Amino acid sequence: MSAPVDLSVHLSDPAATDALPARVALEAARRRTFAIISHPDAGKTTLTEKLLLYGGAIHLAGSVKARRAARHATSDWMKLEQERGISVTSSVLQFDWQGYKVNLLDTPGHADFSEDTYRTLIAADSAVMLLDNRKGVEERTRQLFEVCHKRRTPIFTFVNKCDRAGEDPLKLLDDVEKDLGITCAPVTWPIVDGDKFVGVYDRLTQHVLLFERGEHHGSQQLATIEGGLDAPEIAEHCSPYALDRLREDLELLDVGLGQFDPEAFRAGQLSPTFFGSALTNFGVEPFLREFVQLAPGPGPRDTTKGPIAPETTGFAGFVFKIQANMDPKHRDRMAFVRVVSGRYAAGMETTLTRTGKTLRLSAPQSVMARERQAIDEAWPGDVVGIVDKGTLRIGDTLLEVAPKDPPQFSDIPRFPPEHFVRVLSADPMRRKQLDTGLKQLSEEGAAQVFFAEADAKLGSGPSPIVGAIGQLQFDVMMFRLESEYGAPAKLESLGYGNPRWVTGDRKEIERVGSVHGRILLYDIKGNPMILFSDRWAMRSALDKETKVEWHESAP
Ligand code: G4P
Repeated sequence: MSAPVDLSVHLSDPAATDALPARVALEAARRRTFAIISHPDAGKTTLTEKLLLYGGAIHLAGSVKARRAARHATSDWMKLEQERGISVTSSVLQFDWQGYKVNLLDTPGHADFSEDTYRTLIAADSAVMLLDNRKGVEERTRQLFEVCHKRRTPIFTFVNKCDRAGEDPLKLLDDVEKDLGITCAPVTWPIVDGDKFVGVYDRLTQHVLLFERGEHHGSQQLATIEGGLDAPEIAEHCSPYALDRLREDLELLDVGLGQFDPEAFRAGQLSPTFFGSALTNFGVEPFLREFVQLAPGPGPRDTTKGPIAPETTGFAGFVFKIQANMDPKHRDRMAFVRVVSGRYAAGMETTLTRTGKTLRLSAPQSVMARERQAIDEAWPGDVVGIVDKGTLRIGDTLLEVAPKDPPQFSDIPRFPPEHFVRVLSADPMRRKQLDTGLKQLSEEGAAQVFFAEADAKLGSGPSPIVGAIGQLQFDVMMFRLESEYGAPAKLESLGYGNPRWVTGDRKEIERVGSVHGRILLYDIKGNPMILFSDRWAMRSALDKETKVEWHESAP
């Protein structure tokens, strides 16, 4: 591993220069930046609300949804978002918890699932996999898990909805292991009295936590009775039968699931697992308590010149998402920057390493629950939104101290699209504008453009093909092509998917791509890629066509 890149800053005031390293190290150490990965309906919105409730960011849970609804009426948010009543972008929620600053990067889940959802995971230092206790791992959980797993992101598991009967916990964890190949290590374990979920046992502190339901239906923090397994106050509030059953379960866990191994967790091989009910708040506080202790703080991030450590005093950050047109009146865009090192200060000058030009980050914003809020400073692990006029791109590196031949953060990967459409100009006179729009959207990372011919470029030849992770990306693209480029477009579904990139002999690739049930396309860099009529056709081609090499993402 190469030596860390030194980007130390020296301020005009020597005392401030001396104090800065300690401040950066302290602020970095108390950041916990994570995302929730789940299938729609597992309870992500509910859990998010409850985390904010416990973090003191909102007083009555339920208000996130209520405020969201109220704001829709007055907000000048992107028109499409209003029309569809959905959130087009992900936002960042920050709250305090026992001295920690917790950043929850919201990942769009339902119809608004897009490449941004995947990219957001790259800005997170850990992830919480939220499962429904009846359904376990579902399709979207699997997709998001794979992205985290490939990057060795540490993953927590939270089994939700334990207030109603679900799959046997041991069986559920076994299924997760079989499905995803990750071992679940229960940190908390559900306590069921009769048929009621009454509390959890924390295996790390060896404490029983019994929750009192109250009359507030989960809108307030819970009263909790806490003590050892043999404590009189626990026996007073829980039946001997339930405690015996818990003891038996714990013995089984000790034999079967061994001890929590921090090394395996940090390597993304073992998932600390929690049980609870976001709806009734049961188990949410014990989760947060252990989460801030176990979750990694911001770590070093790789660049072309070696890793940049968070404690380096010079600010360094990368753009992981760009949201266009948040304010249609100004046509500005917001670039979401993950702070990797140093101190980010309002109005600071940075170098955009891609162009070597100086960029003043003049309008720093924290992006709290989709409200813009000016902020003065941010630290490693934080995410700031920068108002941008079209200079920044996804993957860009921003540095306060830029040495000659500056380091650049490793590329943000492109994720293979799941849907493909041909983009036709609805107005033949506007084809040029359409191509300009597509080119810019592609550079920005909002759409992936492909061609049916090897040497095709935007602006010539047949209509381009666009790929997206989620259908909503097409709606956003159409909307932007028309409103920003004056180029109305029509989309024609290709009816093919399951892309695989291919390398090898060109003639052989053309032969493989011309078989019935496949189409050969080229990405914007000219790399050949084959689409298939269905998953089965793709699998069969991978088995049979061994003269070419297959890749899940662009080589
Ligand atoms: P999502 O963001 O992951 O899509 O899920 P969301 O929080 O919106 O929750 C989906 C449904 O599951 C909601 O019910 C919600 O109340 C319910 N839910 C969430 N957490 C729990 C839990 O711990 N226990 C139980 N029993 N249910 C839970 P809904 O009827 O679809 O919506 P709503 O009318 O309650 O808002």
